[in-house]
Amino acid sequence: MTNLFLPLNEPVRTDLERLFPLLEQLFPIPGRFRARLPQDVAELSRQLTSERPRRDAGYLGQKALLSAYLHYFMPWNVFRLCRLLPALDIELNAGDAVTDLGSGPLTLPIALWMCRPDLREIPLEFRCLDRTAAILDAGKRIMQALPSQWKIRTIRGSLGERIEGKPAKLVTAINVFNELFWDTHDGPRLVAERYGPVLSALAAEEGLILIVEPGIPRSGEFISAMREGLLSLGRVPRAPCTHSAACPLPGERRGAKWCHFAFDTDEAPEALHRLSRAAGLPKERATMSFLLAGPPLRGFRPGTAGKAELAGKAEPAGTAGSAGSAGPVAIGHKLAFRVLSDPFPLGDKATFSREPLLLGRYACSEKGLVLLRGQAGRIQGLAAGAYAEVQGRDLQRERDKKSGAQIINLM
Ligand SMILES: C[S@@+](CC[C@H](N)C(=O)[O-])C[C@H]1O[C@@H](n2cnc3c(N)ncnc32)[C@H](O)[C@@H]1O
Repeated sequence: MTNLFLPLNEPVRTDLERLFPLLEQLFPIPGRFRARLPQDVAELSRQLTSERPRRDAGYLGQKALLSAYLHYFMPWNVFRLCRLLPALDIELNAGDAVTDLGSGPLTLPIALWMCRPDLREIPLEFRCLDRTAAILDAGKRIMQALPSQWKIRTIRGSLGERIEGKPAKLVTAINVFNELFWDTHDGPRLVAERYGPVLSALAAEEGLILIVEPGIPRSGEFISAMREGLLSLGRVPRAPCTHSAACPLPGERRGAKWCHFAFDTDEAPEALHRLSRAAGLPKERATMSFLLAGPPLRGFRPGTAGKAELAGKAEPAGTAGSAGSAGPVAIGHKLAFRVLSDPFPLGDKATFSREPLLLGRYACSEKGLVLLRGQAGRIQGLAAGAYAEVQGRDLQRERDKKSGAQIINLM
């Protein structure tokens, strides 16, 4: 287990910067349309995030929206993926296949090319499926300009479509499922129930499934439901979860916390920031919810999800909603956690003026949601998505009044 959202290294930054002249070259915007680009970005943003969509299913087939997607949304999504992917344990070997659903302009292969240069010379087959041919074609042209040993196959079709070839070592669905929540009356849970088995069937037995969504509450709920569904099929969460016990953030209730991460965007190309500001969408932070699920752990018995009885973790994990086992952590046992929230002040306002200031931060663990408590420097020093372990005895009996989370004192 590692920290998530590591800073970009120099070659990735350079490749990201180079994406812009490449887009200009491949998809030049004629003068009168160029001035409209920020407006088109703003319009597409409204359409992509509105609950009652005015967009039709083939919205990326419309020239102005396609251009907005290519010059704005795709680079932002590549940036977000480049912050995530290097931290995930994704091993691909010669002859492996990657199936990317709702691939759009092949955002996932482009990001993988940028942030995993070690994969470029490995012969891999990418099957990129989308319902809109124009956006797939655009992606194919971009990938042709990025030298590699990869075979790129684009497939025009709908989610659920049969995909020729052997099961994939990696199945991905990036920023696609939220469209299904908006497009249909099905909520996140129903969508997860329907598509969990589809994703699992597309993946090789030893394969991985990666789902990335915007960091909005409904996506958090979807990710949690998908995690539960994949667990019931024997696919164990690898990240961001540190455990296979019930998810403490099912996010079903309005106003409830949901699983997502936020990180700063200082490293994103200036050209992208400029376009964001021009579109009235300045982006100081990027957010996402995601899940990487793998094959079963040794000793895992399908059907025990939520009550996870895993090899070496025999204790019952509690029920969905309460999540985590309520009992103490066994002596000598370490408790792993993943930092979720930003830091926030603890205590009443009257005590804020007194030094030292105590801050809190929520984290996820096999004991459910925990509240990390400590002095400002210590708590602020943890990065978003950081992974850490404490001794089981550090888990206090005391609980956070607001959330009910058990407290860990980090000194
Ligand atoms: C927001 S874009 C994401 C594209 C790309 N994965 C990315 O992260 O930039 C969503 C894509 O999913 C596609 N899509 C939505 N619903 C689909 C469905 N039911 N079947 C196939 N593709 C779908 C859309 O055409 C669009 O290209």
